[in-house]
Amino acid sequence: MRRNLLLQLLLSFFFVAAVAQESKIISVNADKPLYPVQSTMWGIFFEDINFAADGGIYAELVKNRSFEFFQPLMGWKEIRKTKQAGSALINNRAGTSPSNPRFAHVSFDNSNGTYCLSNAGFRGMGIKQGMKYHFSVWAGQKSGDVKLRIELVRADGKSIGAATLVPDDGDWKKYEVDLTAAATDPKASLNIWFEGKGSVDLDMISLFPDDTWKNRPGGLRADLVQLLADLKPGFIRFPGGCIVEGRELTTRYQWKKTVGNVEDRELIVNRWNTEFPHKNAPDYFQSYGLGFYEYFLLAEDIGAEPLPILSCGMACQFNTAEVVPLDQIDPYIQDALDLIEFANGPVTSKWGKLRADMGHPAPFNLKMLGVGNEQWGPQYIERYKVFSNALKAKHPEIKLVSGTGPSPDGADFDYASVELKKLNEELVDEHYYRSPEWFFSNAARYDKYDRNSYKIFAGEYASHIPNTGNPPHKNTWLSAISEAAFMTGLERNADVVWMCSYAPLFAHAEAWQWSPDLIWFNNLESYGTPNYYVQKMFSVNRGTDVLSVTEGEKPLTGQGGIYASSVFDKKSNEVIIKIVNSNDAAATRELNIKTSRRLDGKAIATVLKSDDKGAFNSFDNPVNIKPQEQAVTLNGKKIKLDLPASSLNVITIRIVK
Ligand code: AHR
Repeated sequence: MRRNLLLQLLLSFFFVAAVAQESKIISVNADKPLYPVQSTMWGIFFEDINFAADGGIYAELVKNRSFEFFQPLMGWKEIRKTKQAGSALINNRAGTSPSNPRFAHVSFDNSNGTYCLSNAGFRGMGIKQGMKYHFSVWAGQKSGDVKLRIELVRADGKSIGAATLVPDDGDWKKYEVDLTAAATDPKASLNIWFEGKGSVDLDMISLFPDDTWKNRPGGLRADLVQLLADLKPGFIRFPGGCIVEGRELTTRYQWKKTVGNVEDRELIVNRWNTEFPHKNAPDYFQSYGLGFYEYFLLAEDIGAEPLPILSCGMACQFNTAEVVPLDQIDPYIQDALDLIEFANGPVTSKWGKLRADMGHPAPFNLKMLGVGNEQWGPQYIERYKVFSNALKAKHPEIKLVSGTGPSPDGADFDYASVELKKLNEELVDEHYYRSPEWFFSNAARYDKYDRNSYKIFAGEYASHIPNTGNPPHKNTWLSAISEAAFMTGLERNADVVWMCSYAPLFAHAEAWQWSPDLIWFNNLESYGTPNYYVQKMFSVNRGTDVLSVTEGEKPLTGQGGIYASSVFDKKSNEVIIKIVNSNDAAATRELNIKTSRRLDGKAIATVLKSDDKGAFNSFDNPVNIKPQEQAVTLNGKKIKLDLPASSLNVITIRIVK
C-alpha cells in the first residue's frame, strides 16, 4: 500500500517535471505566416517640443534671427566699447511685410567698430573646429558707409573666425559670407561689429554649418537626421503632438505659414514656451525654418511615409479648449485639402506649383492624414465627421487617422472608441504614457481585440517612471525594457496594430520641457537612449509576416517574466524572434523552429541588456546600453537560448532555400 503511494508520488513528480520541461520550449511556426506586418509598423513621432526644431534638428544657429520674438532683442546683446558707439532700434513694417514685420535699424558712429550685436544662439552655438559656416543677412544701407565684421567667439571671448561684408545697396538685399572656425566650442556666439559711420537695416541674420544633412543650405543637423534614418522608420508623424492644436486656435499649427521663402514664414510662439511653469522657456518660438516642405523632404530622404496631423478646429483641451463653431470650420477643412494638393497635386495646381517652385516638382506621394491630435468628447466626433465627409469625398485615396484622446482607457476613450467604430473608421490613434508596470501588464492588450474594428495607430507612447531625479522621468533601462515587452504584443497583433511611434522624439539637454524622450542632444553631440535602441531593434527587424511563437501552446505575454513575438522576412528569408526576459536572473529556453525547410546552422542574437534597471545612456557614456551581436549555433532546428537577466533578445535565423 505504502509502496504504491510512493510510486504514485514519484510518477506525479516526473509528470510535473516533464510538463515544466515541456513548457520551457519556445516554438516558432516558420512555415505558417499568420498575417502581414505593415511597412508602416514602426515609425517616428516628431514634435517641436524640447527645442526639437529651432535649436535642434533645424541647423540654424542664430536665435531670433528676424527680431520677431515678443521681446524683440531677445537672444541678442549689444556690446559697446565706447559710450556713443551705436544703437539698435526695432522697426515694424507690418504694412508691407505682414508675415515678417520687425527688423533692426542699427546706427553707429565709429571707424574702428566699437558697436556690436551679439547672438547667443540656442543655449550657446555649437561650433566645430575646421568647419565652414555660412553667414547671411538681409540688409539695406540707409546712410553713410557701412562695413560688417562677422566674428565667431568662444565662450571665453576668444575670436575663432571672422569675415567682412559690405552692404552696398539702400534696398533690402541678401548678403552672404563664409567663415571657418579655428576651434570647437559648444557655447560659442556670433558677433556682428559695425564699422564706419552710418546706419543699416538688418533682418534674417543667419548662420548655418556647412555639414547639414545632405549638405543642403539652410538644412537640418546631420547627426540628428542620421539617428532617425538609422531607425529605418516606416512613417514620420508631424508636427505633433499638442503643437498641432495650439494653446488657443490662433496659435494652432497652420502649415501654409510654414512653406515658401523662409523670410516670409510667420514666426509664432511655441506652445511649450509657457506650458510648464517649472520649465518656462520664454525664448521658445517657431521660426518654421523646418516647415512642411522640409518635413516632406525629410520623410522622403529617410524612406518614411509622411503622416501629417492637422488641427480639426479644436485648441488643446488641456489649455483653452476653444473650438471653432461648426459653421465656421470650412477654412480648416480647406487647409487639409490644400495640404494634399501641396503634397500630391500637379505642378499646374496652386499648391503643387509652390511645391515645384520650392524644388520638388514630383509629388511627395502622401497617403495618410491625421485629423486632430489628442482630442476628446462629442465636440471632436462632430468635427471629425465633417472633416471625414469632405476629405473622403474628394480624396478617397487618402487614409484618415482619427484619435481616442490622451488616455488608453476611461470614459473619454470608451466614448471615442464606440463613436469611431460606428463611423467605420480605418485607423485610430491611441496614446499610452504609463508606468512600466502598465506596459508589462498590457502586452496582451490586443490579443482579444475585435478583429472587425478599426486598426490601431499606437501614435504616442513612453514608459514613465516618476522621481528619477533630473530629468524627472529618466530614460532608464526599466522604462525601455517595459516598452519592449509591450511592443512584442503590438507585433504579435500586427493584423490590427498598423503603426506605432514612441513620443516625444528629441530633447535638448539644456532646454527640454518634457521627459522621457527618445534622443537627447546638446549643441554638438547626440545619443540614443536605451528606448531608442529598443525602437531600432524592432524597426530594423520588422519583417513582412507575423509568425506564431508559443510556450506550451500559449503566446508569451509575461509567463515566467518572458515576452515574445516573431516575424518572417520574405525579402531576406529570415525568421526573427524577439524575446524579452524581464527577470532579474538569466533564463534558459529551448527554441524550436518548426519548418520543413533547411535552416542555416548559425544564427545571430542581438542582445540589449543591463543588470541595472536604473541604468541609462548619457553624453559621458552614450552607449552604456547598446545592442550587441553574437553568433548562436543551431542544433538542427533547435537553439539553446541563454537569455541574460533583464534583456531584449532578437534572434535572426536564415532559411536556406
Ligand atoms: O509627446 C508630448 C505630448 O504628449 C504631445 O504633444 C501630446 O500629444 C501628448 O499629450
